[in-house]
Amino acid sequence: MKLGLIGYPIQHSLSPWIHKQFMQQTEMTGTYQLYEAEQNQLAEQLSQMKAERINGFNVTVPYKQMIIPYLDELDVHAEQIGAVNTVVQRDNRWIGYNTDGLGYITALKTKYPELFSRDKRVLLLGAGGASRGIFYALCQEPFEAINIANRTLDRADELLILNHSNQIKVTTCTYEDAEKSLSQYDLIIQTTSVGMKPNVNAQVISMNNVKRGVVVSDIVYQPFLTSLLDDAKQQGARIHHGHEMLLYQAKLAFQLWSGKQVNAEKIEVAFMEQIKNVRN
Ligand code: ATR
Repeated sequence: MKLGLIGYPIQHSLSPWIHKQFMQQTEMTGTYQLYEAEQNQLAEQLSQMKAERINGFNVTVPYKQMIIPYLDELDVHAEQIGAVNTVVQRDNRWIGYNTDGLGYITALKTKYPELFSRDKRVLLLGAGGASRGIFYALCQEPFEAINIANRTLDRADELLILNHSNQIKVTTCTYEDAEKSLSQYDLIIQTTSVGMKPNVNAQVISMNNVKRGVVVSDIVYQPFLTSLLDDAKQQGARIHHGHEMLLYQAKLAFQLWSGKQVNAEKIEVAFMEQIKNVRN
């Protein structure tokens, strides 16, 4: 199987490591190559990948939306989310999928199944590309309410159209309001890049006043323990690290390419070591 990743910059990507483990698990032979391309090289890089008859590839920052015009078909969920992180080649046609949101939810459900219940309230921090995929997937699950907080309130409002649940109450608010109402949530999900290396001390909001036992999840995985997660832990929260989304979106992508099930939990401990050892 010929696989790969397109994005910029991607030289520190852990995806080759993950997919190598999945190939070993499924006893498949193949390669997972990095196709790093700046924007002015995108079209040329893609036509080279087409010529190589690549079987499938991942798409990362900054091309998750820009890739769409180059595809022959879009999965219905990827179309609604408006972003693609996985491309599958079938009969030389490229089909775009989005496994980010569902991968994230799968990871969270594996660790905290009790969160998925009609009496649970969710706070989603951020309204960018990552948040769109996560919000879309959250809306397919049973929750009582989801509140989306963002610095730019209009962008949070733009997410509302993705809600296909008529059971979940969805609202938007500012970070200031979110901070004031923090104790009412059972699950808090941080989806912005705030707190990522090198700005490791930054936090979108403070975690003072969270409810004891709340689950706080951060999709930032560099550093492994973000300032927000550290803060939440000190307030008695249970925490969910960002590397899990990376691992589970890869699991779903690999399954789309190979048609075979893989076990992400089995490689998680070794993956955490990989994350901690990455040099930036
Ligand atoms: P991505 O596709 O990676 O999610 P994005 O679409 O640029 O990236 O969205 C980034 C998210 O991080 C947004 O919610 C953005 O807030 P705005 O919509 O108000 O821009 C948020 N974000 C980025 N930098 C931020 C900062 N310094 N403070 C607060 N929010 C920030």
